[in-house]
Amino acid sequence: MPTQVVTHSAEETIAFGRRLAAELFPPLIVLLRGNLGAGKTTLVKGIAEGFGAAQAEDVTSPTFTLVHEYRGPRITLYHIDLYRIDTPRQLETLGLEDLFAPNCILLIEWGEKFPRLQRHRSAEIALERVGENQRTIQVNLEPEST
Ligand SMILES: Nc1ncnc2c1ncn2[C@@H]1O[C@H](COP(=O)(O)OP(=O)(O)O)[C@@H](O)[C@H]1O
Ligand SMILES: [Mg+2]
Repeated sequence: MPTQVVTHSAEETIAFGRRLAAELFPPLIVLLRGNLGAGKTTLVKGIAEGFGAAQAEDVTSPTFTLVHEYRGPRITLYHIDLYRIDTPRQLETLGLEDLFAPNCILLIEWGEKFPRLQRHRSAEIALERVGENQRTIQVNLEPEST
């Protein structure tokens, strides 16, 4: 059953991410959907804190580095941004398949560009900007497989 919340600041989105972490179980791919500035990276800050894997301020956008790794006591988070990846071949060179380990969770921005990623157990979170500081966050932990 999808849940939806509305947040009114980046801090609220981070707080929501912290709580959401308790509902994410590895191995899992989380597709973070939403336009630039929707709050995908901001949500990851909270999720990383929830897992004790990083402080919010240490989580930055992997736009250029493509993959960031955050190690928590129980799980390892990979934060991935595929905005600059255009072809399946480029995707292949990232080696994401190798990151899909039993204690790992992959948080992927722009992952919907590559439907093959959804062959794995995946969840979907859709963020939308509805105002300067207002965002809707829709969580679907069990999307229909494609
Ligand atoms: N309610 C909110 N939730 C998340 N971010 C917000 C919110 N209100 C304002 N913002 C701002 O919007 C921007 C979201 O950026 P970011 O998380 O990098 O988006 P994305 O990764 O989707 O491109 C940040 O500058 C953040 O401070
Ligand atoms: Mg981002």
